[in-house]
Amino acid sequence: MDTKIKELLSQLTLEEKAGLCSGKDFWRTKPVERLGIPSVMVSDGPSGLRTQVENGVNENDSRAAVSFPSGCATASSFDRNLLRNLGEILGEEANNYNVSTVLGPAINIKRSPLCGRNFEYLSEDPYVAGELGAAYVKGVQSKNVGTSVKHFAANNQETNRFSVSEEVDERTLREIYLPAFENCVKNSAPTTIMCSYNAINGELSSQNKWLLKDVLRDEWGFKGMVVSDWGAVYDRVKGIKADLSLEMPYSGGHTDNDIVQAVKAGTLTMEELDEAVSHVLEMVLNYTEHKQSGVFDMDKDHAESARIAEESCVLLKNDNAVLPIKASAEKVLFTGCFAENPRYGGGGSSKIKCYKMTSAVDAAREAGLGVKYVKGYNEDFVTTTAALTDEAVAAAREADTVVVFAGLPESYETEGADRTTLDMPQVQNELIEKLAAVNKNVVVVLHNGAPVAMPWVDKVAAILECYLGGENIGTAQVNLLFGKANPSGKLAETFPLRLEDTPCYLTYPGNGRTCVYSEGIFVGYRWYDSRKMPVLFPFGYGLSYTTFEYSNLKVSKSAFKDSDGVEVSITIKNTGSVEGKEVVQLYVSDKTGVEVRPEKELKGFDKVNLKPGESKEVTFKLDRRSFAFWNIDIDDWYAPSGKYIISIGASSRDIRATAEVDVTSTSKKAFTITPQTTMGDMLRNREMAAIIKPEFDQACHAVIGDLSDEEFAKLFPFTKDAMIEMTKSNPFRLNRGKNGITMEDILKQVERYNKELDK
Ligand code: BGC
Repeated sequence: MDTKIKELLSQLTLEEKAGLCSGKDFWRTKPVERLGIPSVMVSDGPSGLRTQVENGVNENDSRAAVSFPSGCATASSFDRNLLRNLGEILGEEANNYNVSTVLGPAINIKRSPLCGRNFEYLSEDPYVAGELGAAYVKGVQSKNVGTSVKHFAANNQETNRFSVSEEVDERTLREIYLPAFENCVKNSAPTTIMCSYNAINGELSSQNKWLLKDVLRDEWGFKGMVVSDWGAVYDRVKGIKADLSLEMPYSGGHTDNDIVQAVKAGTLTMEELDEAVSHVLEMVLNYTEHKQSGVFDMDKDHAESARIAEESCVLLKNDNAVLPIKASAEKVLFTGCFAENPRYGGGGSSKIKCYKMTSAVDAAREAGLGVKYVKGYNEDFVTTTAALTDEAVAAAREADTVVVFAGLPESYETEGADRTTLDMPQVQNELIEKLAAVNKNVVVVLHNGAPVAMPWVDKVAAILECYLGGENIGTAQVNLLFGKANPSGKLAETFPLRLEDTPCYLTYPGNGRTCVYSEGIFVGYRWYDSRKMPVLFPFGYGLSYTTFEYSNLKVSKSAFKDSDGVEVSITIKNTGSVEGKEVVQLYVSDKTGVEVRPEKELKGFDKVNLKPGESKEVTFKLDRRSFAFWNIDIDDWYAPSGKYIISIGASSRDIRATAEVDVTSTSKKAFTITPQTTMGDMLRNREMAAIIKPEFDQACHAVIGDLSDEEFAKLFPFTKDAMIEMTKSNPFRLNRGKNGITMEDILKQVERYNKELDK
């Protein structure tokens, strides 16, 4: 601990210490003026800086700020540098407004497309969420502004978010819901982590010692401060013991008093309280003592918002190269109110009061494109009139290309409530169908924070998924539609065909009190790909105006130890006629058969920019973790020895090259052998098989001997092969009594096996 902090701790009274553990108001920490401890402000986050004027919470009380594309969009960029740049911009703005901490990134896993807050979150894949989350943290913190990686953990639904208990087994937590946070902690050292509202397996995150202390601090080495989500605290004293340092917002003094009383009663030690206070002091002093001046230019950032959106939009369909639109030669119709009034961000704490909005209609006008615009439906996005529809259909008949701007109104997806359907408003679906009936070049431009159903998917020529693209989405849309920019986003989540197909359809969002994660590790593409299910658009998918060729896949070694890892490279060539960017994805499939694993898992991605005809080699480094699963028997990551397939592709369903490798595990023991262990359990594992195989062969021989198939059939009601399979399922204890074998002998035998593997 820093000497200055030690010194302060020795001077603070019990009441002052307790006071430092909760906010002064909605956005600020408490000062202790007599000791020169200042108050600092924090602000949302994550896709723009929502600093409040005075102590307000509403959009109207916010300072106008540049709104950037939401997490659902930026994740589709698959671009670490872009997320880092976004972080740097927010860091500059934060310094300018004396904001010590930006409350983001929000990196919870998209368990169900229905989660009302998916628009803020990054991906259904923990590797993508972790890599991009860490890049954002590095960007913000490069300006000496803190971040708050949220919401730790398993905050995957808005229904009953303050109280629901997410019932998740440990392997699923370790493989799906925790790794993005782990990645941020280990690779970007966030100054704070925000605990979630929900409970995990019955214990609220705000007082969950296993989560905050054992895993986050002790195992991952988190050095910063845990802050509560706003209103997440229930038992404050338990929270202090569990490593929750700062409660936000103000607690009206009630929980400060709980702390004071607990110390007086001896149920909370001064050391436990000092630990919490020290993290608060570090957070406050790190900001104030190294404060940088923030220089930023709103117009520059407004332009940057469009650039980020351009990198993030995903081209889902483009039949007959209807896009890009050749502006000079075509009569273009824009219709649908989102063209004039785009949905730029989601509802709730991340809502930005925009500095200025540029819609597609504005951008087309500014670019002098001579596009015609008719509304198509009412400004509420959910109702229409016959006159509006007729006007749009008539205009569509006259146009060469029709661009219909559609999507979800804010009331459909917002913080605090989950969606109940994937459907877009009926009037919009109907309008799209009617337009497609009169014009073969219909382009749908979507504004939504999460997947929607597309009943018209086969009837339209093109679909551009823009998610919630920030205040300058109009510029990005026009640049992409007219080919000034080339789409390069890929989906960081699967678009399912039906809600009924989604992994947690049967259990989401639970009965209110609990929600059981019965799909386990099979989330997103891990589910759809393992089940070979058709989807609307797969994870990792997105088109470009150019084409890419993948060749020359190389692995540095075809056999290696898990601890050594391997390098994989592939050459990507732009085979089209325009410059473009490709998101190259690397997946690993475990073929060892040791544990139940998803069909494949993403373990690397990179985005490369290529001029027409240009080639570049992309290299990935895989380590032990790239091959490992969370082994509950040894409480650790474990990569079983055996074969793995490395696949490189343009999406999870478009694999362009594969290589088989052989991994040798350096942790020999997959589990502790007991009298209930079967020979088959051991045979599945290469190291264990080596010690049991002779014995197994002997056991089979003892029964089969030199019997021919016919002789064997006379003695047993099954075949030799079936007998061998059956023997694999025999636990060692079944040998008791055979040839005088006692339980003691069996215990000695398993002890010998365990020792051999421990060597
Ligand atoms: C949200 C957080 C947010 C906080 C402060 C909470 O309701 O869950 O994400 O940072 O409010 O606005």
